[in-house]
Amino acid sequence: MASSRVRGATLGSPGDELETARAVRGLFAAITPRYDLLNHVLSLGADILWRREAARALAGTLEQPEALVLDLCCGTGDLAIALSTHGRATVRGADFCHPMLRRAEAKAAARDLRLKFVEADALQLPFADSSLDAVATAFGFRNLANYARGLREIRRVLKPGGSLAILEFSHVRWPLFDLLFRFYFRHVLPKLGDWISGVPGPYRYLRDSVKVFPDQEALAALMKDEGFAEVGYRNLTGGIAALHTGKKSESL
Ligand SMILES: C[S@@+](CC[C@H](N)C(=O)[O-])C[C@H]1O[C@@H](n2cnc3c(N)ncnc32)[C@H](O)[C@@H]1O
Repeated sequence: MASSRVRGATLGSPGDELETARAVRGLFAAITPRYDLLNHVLSLGADILWRREAARALAGTLEQPEALVLDLCCGTGDLAIALSTHGRATVRGADFCHPMLRRAEAKAAARDLRLKFVEADALQLPFADSSLDAVATAFGFRNLANYARGLREIRRVLKPGGSLAILEFSHVRWPLFDLLFRFYFRHVLPKLGDWISGVPGPYRYLRDSVKVFPDQEALAALMKDEGFAEVGYRNLTGGIAALHTGKKSESL
């Protein structure tokens, strides 16, 4: 069951945030070579449309040439690429997994995009207070060892009134579709993931982490608790994913 009381991702010893971060980094390093292929195959290409929706949600900021926008937990850079092709803002990517970042750099260079990527932990970002106009993150937030700390750190680096967009797996809201999707997600996806990635385990973690991740209402409530205003969300593909948005309020 999803719970609003889940503190963050757990991989390894429950409650050990440092160990979870290390294990998450190792897991993504192991699947980097096939990561993009797996994303597109396992979601039947929907991940591309979902990231595009995240970029659209920030259109107002992305149109401003002086704006600075961060793709947090950028992985191989697909959201950063979508953000930079949707406007004229300066886009940065941050991730703590070195092989994912190298791949992101190669993809940006192949498209002639002047994106910069920084190796950094989302819970301790190398950006000054109130320095960013928007932060967007796709399928990364769920992996943080402490969601409230993650939101506090995002709030710290955002300018007052700055925008946050979190694209994450969520909870399907159409009952029949939910049954079908659960079967796929629990039984088919982990096997396909193991097979295509050639690494046993990561896609079982994906299944388990989505199961315990706060649902739409719980994540929206957490965003409000952590000082975000104008909080809302939109279900994508019946709630397989949800796009959460909010703005840094002037005061907590
Ligand atoms: C599922 S991938 C998503 C990648 C990309 N955003 C996308 O849309 O495909 C999750 C990414 O989050 C990164 N990540 C997880 N926890 C992190 C943390 N605490 N700090 C920085 N990056 C983190 C992982 O290294 C991984 O690249």
